[in-house]
Amino acid sequence: MITFDEATGIFHLQGKQTSYFMQKNEQNHLFHLYWGSRLAKRLPDYVLKEIKRASYIADTDHIKEYKLERLPQEYPAFGNSDLRKPAYQLTFQNGTQISDFRYVTHEIIQGKPALKGLPSLRESIDCETLKITLHDAYQQINLSLFYTLFEEADIITRHSELENVGDDPVEINQLNSACVELPTSDLDLLHLSGSWARETHIQRTPLSQLNYRVESTRGSSSHEHNPFIALMEKEATETNGDVYSMNLVYSGNFEATVDVEMQDAVRMQIGMNSTLFGWQLQPGKTFVSPEAVLVYSQHGLQELTHKYHQAYQNYLLPKKFAKKERPILVNSWEACYFDLKEEALLELAQSSKDLGVELFVLDDGWFGHRDDTSSSLGDWFVDSQKFPQGLEHFITQIKQIGLDFGIWVEPEMISEDSNLYRQHLDWCIEVPGRLKSYSRGQFVLDLANTEVQNYLIETLSELFQRYDIDYVKWDMNRSMTETGSNALTSSQQKEFYHRYMLGLYRVLAKVTEQFPDILFENCAGGGGRFDPGMMYYMPQTWTSDDTDAIERLAIQEGTSLIYPAISMGAHVSQVPNHQIGRVTPLNTRGVVAMQGNFGYEMDLSKIPLEEKLEIKAQIEQFKKIRSTVQLGTFYRLAVPVKDNAKAWLFLDEQQVVVSYVQIHAKPNSPSKRLKLTGLNPEGLYLLPNGEKRYGDELMAFGLAIDTVKQDFYSQQWILQKVEDE
Ligand code: DGJ
Repeated sequence: MITFDEATGIFHLQGKQTSYFMQKNEQNHLFHLYWGSRLAKRLPDYVLKEIKRASYIADTDHIKEYKLERLPQEYPAFGNSDLRKPAYQLTFQNGTQISDFRYVTHEIIQGKPALKGLPSLRESIDCETLKITLHDAYQQINLSLFYTLFEEADIITRHSELENVGDDPVEINQLNSACVELPTSDLDLLHLSGSWARETHIQRTPLSQLNYRVESTRGSSSHEHNPFIALMEKEATETNGDVYSMNLVYSGNFEATVDVEMQDAVRMQIGMNSTLFGWQLQPGKTFVSPEAVLVYSQHGLQELTHKYHQAYQNYLLPKKFAKKERPILVNSWEACYFDLKEEALLELAQSSKDLGVELFVLDDGWFGHRDDTSSSLGDWFVDSQKFPQGLEHFITQIKQIGLDFGIWVEPEMISEDSNLYRQHLDWCIEVPGRLKSYSRGQFVLDLANTEVQNYLIETLSELFQRYDIDYVKWDMNRSMTETGSNALTSSQQKEFYHRYMLGLYRVLAKVTEQFPDILFENCAGGGGRFDPGMMYYMPQTWTSDDTDAIERLAIQEGTSLIYPAISMGAHVSQVPNHQIGRVTPLNTRGVVAMQGNFGYEMDLSKIPLEEKLEIKAQIEQFKKIRSTVQLGTFYRLAVPVKDNAKAWLFLDEQQVVVSYVQIHAKPNSPSKRLKLTGLNPEGLYLLPNGEKRYGDELMAFGLAIDTVKQDFYSQQWILQKVEDE
């Protein structure tokens, strides 16, 4: 429920377990009062009055001791009596940057208005939106702050809009999606970072009086940092303590900042990256920021995860696929790379079908004359050398084998050696007169150009119309460098990165609307664009190019913090692993890949019989647990020896699936147990060995872990819920 109290000027966003308070005062400034566990009885109208902070700063509105820097701002400006990090920055026609927004009005709307041109959470029946409008009278600009409360899911989404109601253009240098002030810095910052093949590693750092910045300037949300930050109480753990978090529904450059100020308060913000950003807001126009999702948990990371998973599965993923079990696939990439031979591919398909696979994915190399990364991106027609009888013919055979068919594309890219490049020399991003750098031998198409967007919509529509395609892997394999657009004026060049994203979202919206039955998989060299923005259009993502089971433990753990298993691709590949050369048992590779959308990245036609039999059994096992993994509830489990093992659990009404992976064997190691969580204490569960245990026992004593003399060992248990005798 969202309420406003006239007498105190307090807004209350009251979720199932969370409260969020703001207050407007007589000067019509808007302050942040509180974000935390749900308060039911009264409005905290004493908070602002009780704040005591000295400040060597000017008085506001000539009111003695009224200093904004001392008070928690809801959406702070820069340059007045608050010199901390602002939530926005504007430059006016006269070159100055000082603004002064005051509250004018607000409305509480049933439901949730969509964000123009941008992905955002879809509305639910229980959501309400608060729109607060502020106005800068001198420069004639409206600033609207939007808050949607999803009461049951207990999350808040926020974004900001700027409307130029004056006569002169205004330059937007920054417009954050959300800003929150917490009263103490006795907190840890948690974020997900890494690199290509090493994405989403959980990092936890204690705060001190510094400015922290988690960001991407790579043109995509990036492998380096996920657009997510959390602040946690120092004592907070998986199951205890306060956690405050923000995740941005955006796939381009972002910044998430935490600023610990001199009086120990903390400003936490998220939004588009202000580096290399500028936007000319013409009179009469409105600029819309991306949406931020704010999740608070009173009970550590587990509750945080559950809130994100539920919200994303219910309100973010495309409805058609959000609750639909995903096919088990085989992908040609690590099996064949560019060496695509029709006969061998059909053998791979047939063997895969025999083992229980459901979808065949033809990865890179099927089009133009692409035998390596040096050519053909942009030429989305079949390579007749590799498929002499055409792609239709090949697809027909795949379908006759009994598999669905999926195809790889990388639509945002262009090779210098391509017909597309020869025809449209000005269609890639570039700064005229400067060198364009190759990355993987390719350039990036200028999606800020409407002509390029239209071309992509048309070409992809033709491709997906012509062939019988069930699944598309949409890849994107380079960071943007030397950015500029031939389609933009000089004053618009700073708008490039955001215009690219708006262009991409337009293409994605059109193509996915036109082909609602195709299952789209998002990929950017693995998890380089694993974010809620892409997830709005594409219900699953290839988590990482690193398919090594042990490396995947940390990657999938980090990803699991916010994104549900049904959105996360995880495949078994061959050994030695192609990325790091490690040899892990097939069982462990299977157990780890069963944490998401399961599949294989290996040539299943060229493996020994005993491996085939093991894979057949693996696939049968996954089919038994698939609905629990993809539609059930997920828990990370505490392991007996931290840093040497990972364990997790999925459960639904019927069964519990427990997985355990131990990294290294230890000598003279006593037997250990794995305690379960989330079970019904009084429920009775049938163990794989035929014994029965109650939920309370399984949570108190756990399951016995094997003692083995073997590295990379794993165990998986399926526990059936049974009737009590
Ligand atoms: C990067 C992807 O992450 C891989 O899975 C594969 O599709 C290659 N691109 C193909 O070029």
